[in-house]
Amino acid sequence: MHLPTLLIVAALIPLAACRQPATDDATEPAPVTDAAAAIRDIHSFAEPHRVAIRHLALDLAMDFAARTLAGTATLQLEWRDPAADALLLDTRDLTILRAEAGDPAGGWRELPFELAEPDRTLGRRLTLRTGGQPGSVRITYRTSPAASGLQWLTPAMTQGGRQPFIFSQSQQIHARSWVPLQDTPMVRFTYEARLRTPPELMALMSADNDPAAPRDGDYTFRMPQPIPSYLLAIAAGDLVFAPIDHRSGVWAEPALVQRAAAEFADTGRMIEAAETLYGPYRWDRYDILVLPPSFPYGGMENPRLTFATPTVIVGDRSLVALIAHELAHSWSGNLVTFATANDAWLNEGFTTYVEGRLIEALYGRERADLDRVIERNELRQEFAAENLALQPLAIAQEALPDPDDNLVGTVYTKGAWFLQFLEERFGRERFDAFLRGYFEHFAFQSISTVQFRDYACRHLLDLAPGRVSQAEFDAWLYQPGVPATAPQVTSARLAAVDAAREAWQANAALPQSAVTAAWSTQEWVHFLDGLPEAPDTERLAALDVAYQFTGTPNPEIAQRWYPLTVRGGYTAARPAMARFLNRVGRRKIVMPIYKALAATPDGLVFAREVFAAARPALHPITVASIEAALAVDQAPLAVPPAPPESAGSG
Ligand code: BES
Ligand code: ZN
Repeated sequence: MHLPTLLIVAALIPLAACRQPATDDATEPAPVTDAAAAIRDIHSFAEPHRVAIRHLALDLAMDFAARTLAGTATLQLEWRDPAADALLLDTRDLTILRAEAGDPAGGWRELPFELAEPDRTLGRRLTLRTGGQPGSVRITYRTSPAASGLQWLTPAMTQGGRQPFIFSQSQQIHARSWVPLQDTPMVRFTYEARLRTPPELMALMSADNDPAAPRDGDYTFRMPQPIPSYLLAIAAGDLVFAPIDHRSGVWAEPALVQRAAAEFADTGRMIEAAETLYGPYRWDRYDILVLPPSFPYGGMENPRLTFATPTVIVGDRSLVALIAHELAHSWSGNLVTFATANDAWLNEGFTTYVEGRLIEALYGRERADLDRVIERNELRQEFAAENLALQPLAIAQEALPDPDDNLVGTVYTKGAWFLQFLEERFGRERFDAFLRGYFEHFAFQSISTVQFRDYACRHLLDLAPGRVSQAEFDAWLYQPGVPATAPQVTSARLAAVDAAREAWQANAALPQSAVTAAWSTQEWVHFLDGLPEAPDTERLAALDVAYQFTGTPNPEIAQRWYPLTVRGGYTAARPAMARFLNRVGRRKIVMPIYKALAATPDGLVFAREVFAAARPALHPITVASIEAALAVDQAPLAVPPAPPESAGSG
């Protein structure tokens, strides 16, 4: 190529890299310039372009007998549309007793309000007829015992058995079941709270928890950084604190706290590794709250206070990637937030990528690659012709009526894979600098995939032209499946597991305990993942004799082993399976077991029995998922009987 041609080509590449995707694309993005204003969150009734919450003050009393939170939520407002004369809020199952507008002199004036008919997914729109544009409104309300974002536990459902327990889970759209607010990640607000609890209980929030605070039933909190509603969190129970280092520690019931602190002893080093890669930790303390086993998720990145399932405390630190993950959200998600659940990969994909980098920094690449291989195998299982619309990273609005329906394979695994692809093409040094700049540039903002794309075009693709074409970049965002450009990863340790499994399947002996003694959770998971869909009953029995899978406390193994026993007709596992399902309520772990059971008439009968016994101790989110899988009760989760107080208002 001679010089003029070269120059022309070089001049064209940056332009080509940042062109808009073809307009016939299913998920055609809005024009980049107006991206922020053009975003609409279909999972909220709020209209943040007219008025937005800037600060929330909660004053709530906790009543364990009635299973309610009751009190006031005061919202400070920023009016953005001069013509606006109403405030639209999200609620679910809330009883609204009164609405008032604050005046500059500090007085309150009663406001008319209306609760719309409930929507099964979104709850009820609350309209406050503000007339003018008051600086604040105060809502007096109480929650329902069935609030989808809260779980009330009797003492018997806790480790210690002496005190009750409550915890929230607000993501994705459950904050509206315990606070009337704009329940969309597009809106960020600071908050403060005063909580009255039974005096024996310690209350915590996603805020400035003080390990030295007296336990007296009257607690105050402040969160000075603006957060989206899904990061609003509350918990109370017989909780004590054990430090890990000067800025991290564990809250748990007394019987568990030392084991938890030992399992999560590397947390301080993880924070340091993350700061080295992506800049300072901006949230002051990083503590972990270990919840009862009914917590419906593995972890939840509530700012300053990660909520975690106790099931990852397995004694060998093999599942601490969960902490790396939730900590990573302190950058990807809590600092730079997705604007809508349709952009969930900006939270979970980035976080899974950062999690891998932290695991690599602490334990080496070999260890990190174990998880990558396992996750990508899961993605191959999950991606099917039926869910093509949920496979692009940018999910079209109509493809996601319920924000909880995203595919794990897409938002977590493919999202992280995309970033690893970019890292490999641009080199680690340049890519790390890009991510540092990205977190800094969008700190405390909520952004869409289009905004990320635009930023990456200008700060990555254009800076090193020729490394990644626009078509390659956009294929990840807008096409289903895994692009051909995806970098492959292998693991010698998992290849050895494959060899051992295949030898056994070819009728050689099972791997000896001298070999398997060195296997971590990941090797066992890979061993089970490679078995046939429905192994012979005798083969399963032989495995169980050799390795005692039945009765395992390890959730990653249980999640895989029990479905194999169901499909292979190995009924000897059933009593232990029932005990496991009675104890653990983590949705990702129990759903594969219930789904396997629901596939046969006999299994379905067994599953319904187990569920009936387990149900009182399960979280509403998990209950809803199991009900759908077993189709036992089609009564909607979200529709409350109309309470008289709210009916009277409109
Ligand atoms: N933020 C998620 C949990 C979540 C996602 C709750 C979407 C509700 C809706 C959290 O960070 C998470 O990803 N948890 C994972 C653990 C992680 C190690 C993959 C989980 O709970 O399984
Ligand atoms: Zn996450």
